[in-house]
Amino acid sequence: MSPTTSSLAIAAILFLSNTCLAAGPLAVPLGTAANFVILAQSGISTVPTTGISAITGDIGISPGPATGVTGFGLILSADGTDSTSTQITGNVYASSYTSPTPANLIAAVSDMGTAYNNASGRANPDYTELGSGGLGGLTLTPGLYKWSTDVGIATPVTLAGAATDTWIFQIAGDLTIASAKAVILSGGALASNIVWAVAGDVALGTTSTFEGIILSKKGITLKTGATINGRLLGQTAVALQKATVTQP
Ligand SMILES: *[C@@H]1O[C@H](CO)[C@@H](O)[C@H](O)[C@H]1NC(C)=O
Repeated sequence: MSPTTSSLAIAAILFLSNTCLAAGPLAVPLGTAANFVILAQSGISTVPTTGISAITGDIGISPGPATGVTGFGLILSADGTDSTSTQITGNVYASSYTSPTPANLIAAVSDMGTAYNNASGRANPDYTELGSGGLGGLTLTPGLYKWSTDVGIATPVTLAGAATDTWIFQIAGDLTIASAKAVILSGGALASNIVWAVAGDVALGTTSTFEGIILSKKGITLKTGATINGRLLGQTAVALQKATVTQP
């Protein structure tokens, strides 16, 4: 091979190996729901009397109005399109605010529903009913996982994979993580590549640590001191208590 041909061949091999090495399902398209760290349809609450929450990213509610966002001490902006809170590094958007906010939120909530349907509709899971829904102590490699039951994390669970690898968890029941327990990422795995599609309710226990994008058909509750690196995209309400929520 000429030097040019061989360097092209090396470039092609590097490209192919990078592409082929990514393990796990095709990424879930979040659309404009990805503009929000928390998106809910009926309410977003925090309990300021137990200590403030710390949210990094924008939050949105639709079709629920701004009065559905409670405990944050919202301060409306001059143009009325958004508000702020000392508990949020980002803005708050509600369907009752000034245009273009309502239309943007309708699109984002629609995209959230599409993303949930996409993730929960994937066929041919790599693992079915793993651990009978008990993930504590397991190390999960990239893939599509499916349960027809509740899923619980009673002791730490590890997601092991590279920064390009992906995980989708399809859960027909509720998802819970016990108090003070953690989802641990290893090998460079990223929260932005992990999707939990939950048909039931999600509850993260007191001082637990969670990773990934939660798409819940119902509500999401973060108990006192819970932390998530990811997004809370819920089709009813999101309830926080002294929680830390950071977008990846
Ligand atoms: C999910 O979205 C991807 C990318 O748009 C698409 O290729 C795939 O068919 C969708 N899957 C389902 C189950 O909706």
